[in-house]
Amino acid sequence: MNDSSSAPGQPLPFMRNALEGVRRLAPYEPGMPIEELQRRLGVSDAVKLASNENPLGISPKVRVALERAATGGLERYPDGSGFRLKKKLAALHGIAPERITLGNGSNDILEFIARVFLGPGRAAMFSKHAFAVYPIATQAQGADAVVVPALPPDAAQPYGHDLAGFTRLLRPDVSVIFVANPNNPTGTWLAPAELERFLAQVRPHVIVVLDEAYWHYQEPSTRPDTRAWLERFPNLVVARTFSKIYGLASLRVGYALSHPAVADLMNRVRQPFNNNSLALLAGEVALDDEEFVKRSVALNAKERARLERELTALGLAVLPSQANFLAVGFGRDAAPVHQGLLERGVIVRPMKSYDLPQFLRVTVGTEAENTRFLNALKEVLAGAASAATGRA
Ligand SMILES: Cc1ncc(COP(=O)(O)O)c(C=O)c1O
Repeated sequence: MNDSSSAPGQPLPFMRNALEGVRRLAPYEPGMPIEELQRRLGVSDAVKLASNENPLGISPKVRVALERAATGGLERYPDGSGFRLKKKLAALHGIAPERITLGNGSNDILEFIARVFLGPGRAAMFSKHAFAVYPIATQAQGADAVVVPALPPDAAQPYGHDLAGFTRLLRPDVSVIFVANPNNPTGTWLAPAELERFLAQVRPHVIVVLDEAYWHYQEPSTRPDTRAWLERFPNLVVARTFSKIYGLASLRVGYALSHPAVADLMNRVRQPFNNNSLALLAGEVALDDEEFVKRSVALNAKERARLERELTALGLAVLPSQANFLAVGFGRDAAPVHQGLLERGVIVRPMKSYDLPQFLRVTVGTEAENTRFLNALKEVLAGAASAATGRA
């Protein structure tokens, strides 16, 4: 008999067959979509500074290319090999196309690595307060997580990766190490010499994923020499994305640079058509528009510095950042501030799920968006201060 209904209050019979790691997973919490807040507030001018997107949108060249291509050839499967985009990326990085794997966002790359190298009896290592997908991808594979305590709040890189701690806690069952540089949600980063020393210490059978989603926003002097490191460390996988500086978050394009053998393994678990044709085209054209990248970098540098200055002047703790966002500490539970901002039509990201409940993460927006955020924040803080005085 196959009666799929079950008595109220009884667990559904198939639940016990769901993999344990998946059953215990807490799903990824995305930033609130702008439409949702607008629906809730009944307004049309909400501002979203919650998902580290590019406030300038997409390159005008990409827009033109997409408009031209939008309705042509959609009945055909895309080029599953990503030949043209890989060729361009290979030229950009000065490496062979065989070292490149395309992902549906760099999130896809992180999952390929987990599927190829993690499973029961294995472990992944990553820092506390690091990008949320590392624990999710690890647990979904039934692997263990070795979570390295972060640097202390008074360190030069507060709550950042402690590579000495990584080395100390390394266990024989660790087959993957995830390093986010700069890290999301803290914005902290690692000096190239320190990273290089770490890579030289890790045994060569352990895959090290260097997640560089925010690479473009870094000071050039703090960027690793990716090409040389790929030659020197065959166990290194560098993950990059088109979601941030290129503004293509919605289209989902990311890629990995690695040893060809690692790329070959990733390609075995990759969906044959994981990038759609518009995403592949947008990626290709985006690489041609250096001016858009420069403009995006310049806006971010200027506005990040302004936000940092103004938030510090409000007495808030701003973590040093080389990304397109800032983690802001309130010295108390930040949930009421988050709520107050939402009520004023400004969406930022709570950091409670990162075990930093006193912090909010704000994406660097346009000048107008940042001013709107700062004004809303001042109002919220003033309201909290007067409520406290009223109570006293
Ligand atoms: C550190 C880090 N890695 C990877 C990603 C995944 O980005 P995407 O899948 O859009 O490429 C993000 C997204 O925010 C991120 O912050």
